[in-house]
Amino acid sequence: MTDKVKKYEIIYADPAWSFGDKIRSSKKSNNKLTYRDLAFHYDTMSTTEIALLPVKEMLADNAVCFMWSTDAHLPDAIKVMKAWGFKYKTIAFIWNKKTSTGKQVCFMGKWTMKGSEICLLGTKGKAHNMIQSHKVRQLVESKRGRHSEKPDEVRKRIVELLGNRPRVELFAREKVKGWHAMGFGVDGKLFALPEPENGLSKPVSLFYKKLVTELKKTGANNFGAKEIPLWIKVSPATISRYLKELESAGYIIKTSSSRLDGFQYRIEK
Ligand SMILES: C[S@@+](CC[C@H](N)C(=O)[O-])C[C@H]1O[C@@H](n2cnc3c(N)ncnc32)[C@H](O)[C@@H]1O
Repeated sequence: MTDKVKKYEIIYADPAWSFGDKIRSSKKSNNKLTYRDLAFHYDTMSTTEIALLPVKEMLADNAVCFMWSTDAHLPDAIKVMKAWGFKYKTIAFIWNKKTSTGKQVCFMGKWTMKGSEICLLGTKGKAHNMIQSHKVRQLVESKRGRHSEKPDEVRKRIVELLGNRPRVELFAREKVKGWHAMGFGVDGKLFALPEPENGLSKPVSLFYKKLVTELKKTGANNFGAKEIPLWIKVSPATISRYLKELESAGYIIKTSSSRLDGFQYRIEK
């Protein structure tokens, strides 16, 4: 992840949050990903994978993190900030999305009509001393661009707020003057996750430990893939990826499958 090893004072991240982008099974979408599925546009990562990125190693003693979060990922974003070495402080920016004709974007959410996104702020060290301007506003009124694209205005306001400091954009899709940029969309490289532990990648090893702990409580050695979300908060797409890895490393074995109960497994190690 760190081609140019540098200590950054500003981290600006728009993580590829996973919504459990399972292929929609409705007749309308014909079992294909639709425009509203994030995986239609780019790869996504589980919260554990995002939290495990070695961001701590890239930080100066005093640093500020700006992180876009969807409304649903708010608790995950605060967890990721903590794992990266930051303490959540506030919502730095609220982006009120405008259409190309300048009207407020407004679409049906599960609860209320939506039209904005939030960018959180977390700090490390004596970051308050980094502030250069007290005139930077929270509300950003900008037109929306392509899917997931965030307004350039936010980068400008970050620099106005904190000055011209070493800064990096993570999960970037374009290289902007003054910023280092890392992310599949800008350099074609996927962030490297930590080295495997006992033949398992770190997120899968953590997942397996949690799974075994939960099974110990019931005294069972068998489990169904559909039971996992009751114990561990991971999206279905991530669960199926993790189970494949556990199966191929010999940690679990598939014992049966049925339309009603899904895949059943047995712990092998
Ligand atoms: C939410 S989008 C970022 C959009 C960006 N802020 C913009 O304004 O265009 C997330 C980006 O992260 C990239 N990505 C997903 N998984 C990744 C990984 N493992 N390593 C690096 N980049 C990844 C995706 O390809 C996508 O470009």
